[in-house]
Amino acid sequence: MNYNKKSVLDADVKGKKVLLRCDFNVPQNKETGEITSDKRIVAALPTIKYLLDNGAAVIACSHLGKPKGEWKEKLTLAPVAKRLSELLGMEVIFAKDIIGEDAQAKAAALKPGQIMLLENLRFDIREEKNGDDFAKALSDMADIYVSDAFGTVHRAHASTVGVAKYLPAYAGLLVEKELSVMGKALDDPARPFVAVLGGAKVSDKIGVINNLLDKADTVIIGGGMAYTFIKAMGHGIGNSLLEADKLDYALEMIEKAKEKNVRLLLPVDTAIGNEFKADCEKKIVPVDAIPDGWMGLDIGPETVKLFSDAIKNAKTVVWNGPMGVFEFEAFAEGTKAVAKALAESGAVTIVGGGDSAAAVEQLGFADKMTHISTGGGASLEFLEGRELPGVACLLDK
Ligand code: 3PG
Repeated sequence: MNYNKKSVLDADVKGKKVLLRCDFNVPQNKETGEITSDKRIVAALPTIKYLLDNGAAVIACSHLGKPKGEWKEKLTLAPVAKRLSELLGMEVIFAKDIIGEDAQAKAAALKPGQIMLLENLRFDIREEKNGDDFAKALSDMADIYVSDAFGTVHRAHASTVGVAKYLPAYAGLLVEKELSVMGKALDDPARPFVAVLGGAKVSDKIGVINNLLDKADTVIIGGGMAYTFIKAMGHGIGNSLLEADKLDYALEMIEKAKEKNVRLLLPVDTAIGNEFKADCEKKIVPVDAIPDGWMGLDIGPETVKLFSDAIKNAKTVVWNGPMGVFEFEAFAEGTKAVAKALAESGAVTIVGGGDSAAAVEQLGFADKMTHISTGGGASLEFLEGRELPGVACLLDK
């Protein structure tokens, strides 16, 4: 994939109106609507400040949640406008609609150095359908387009792809950083390059395992998906997670690793529980001795040592997916140990978004990582080597 794209630094933004796509899809308290993490808003600040300081008028836009074309008061971007305004220390003008009268009037009156935010793009069904008239109406408010919504570049929507048909399209500083850090890790990594993959389902990681077996020196597989591999190797796994239709795929990957001479590390022992509960009974057993009725919920101490040793010798580590059910204190040790090994490795450490980013933050290792991606699905698709439509549509360098 070509991610050598023109950045906002290549654009002449002075006196221009800039349509800035951000990913302000922030987690919120379901009852109160309060923003529970403003990381994605903070991550957009460098581009916003650059544009404002360089004489642009910024028309920011984003989606929030999945309202599917319906106007849902709980998913208004008004709280984001408020938080953004606090972070910037200046007024953020909030439009009550997206491409309606209010947005158009406020965009027309916007002066260089000012910023406004449109209402939730997904209140209009044409956003997700990449409706051409919707994309055109968004574009008509601005002179250039900047994409800084890395978390949404895997979606071919009106505001991520459609608008690039009408406006010169540049990457924002966040998109540029995500692409360069992860792109270098995949294309020109300092070696040994170790990929640590976890999470519940093999089916979510099919493309990633396959692609990283072509790139990495060592691929580590933990988390719920490891049990499908263990089963494929002929062991009983009790009530552990199993994707029976992925057993052949698991064997194929084991074969591929051998052919490619890639070290594929799987758990050798596991922490098991008699129920899927935080306070269930817990035991440590070798992976070939999981009793009937029990389920693997974390990697065991021997596996922690095996994985940590591989990580400690790495020069580049990409991590996507927790090693166990880290939300349960008793089964968080594997994920914690892997986070610690990354933190202490001295390697370039890249954490794919979603659950692994949440784990690293929750466990207190966030400031020890080289890069934590703001993208969940987007970083996964990037690691799969797939073309990201919201990047492909930007101007080439
Ligand atoms: C995310 O949170 O991964 C992005 O904002 C994309 O959201 P979506 O999965 O609703 O498209």
